[in-house]
Amino acid sequence: MDRKDFLKTCSLCGLGLTGLGTLIESCTKPINSSTPQGPTVNFTLDLSKPANASLGTLGGSVSSNGVVVVNLSGNFIAVAQSCTHNGCSVGYNPGSNNFVCPCHGGTFDTSGKVTSGPPPAPLKTYTVVKTGNILTISG
Ligand code: FES
Repeated sequence: MDRKDFLKTCSLCGLGLTGLGTLIESCTKPINSSTPQGPTVNFTLDLSKPANASLGTLGGSVSSNGVVVVNLSGNFIAVAQSCTHNGCSVGYNPGSNNFVCPCHGGTFDTSGKVTSGPPPAPLKTYTVVKTGNILTISG
């Protein structure tokens, strides 16, 4: 292969790599939306069951059906568990009163709004209705 052929081959490789880079970027590009992201759910949690005992304390939380439910000063809130960046599970931090993603440090306030980090969209929030010892989470 002479120099001319080598340069032709390299320029074709460059075009190929550029195309590959664009393809990879489009595959890994996160959602860019202000629309809250999360599953559609309708389920109940029985507060008298041991598995849900942490909801009996202020700041306590339980994850179920892709949703994090939190006892926030006696009121219950629920947000989607899957981070809108790359899908890691967020958890409630009672010390800072927010949701934190352990993967890249994204944070969300209690209304699901992104407050820092790479998440491109808010977490979906859900309606929580308490009837006796039963919480119904839907949305
Ligand atoms: S997956 Fe949550 S911040 Fe990256």
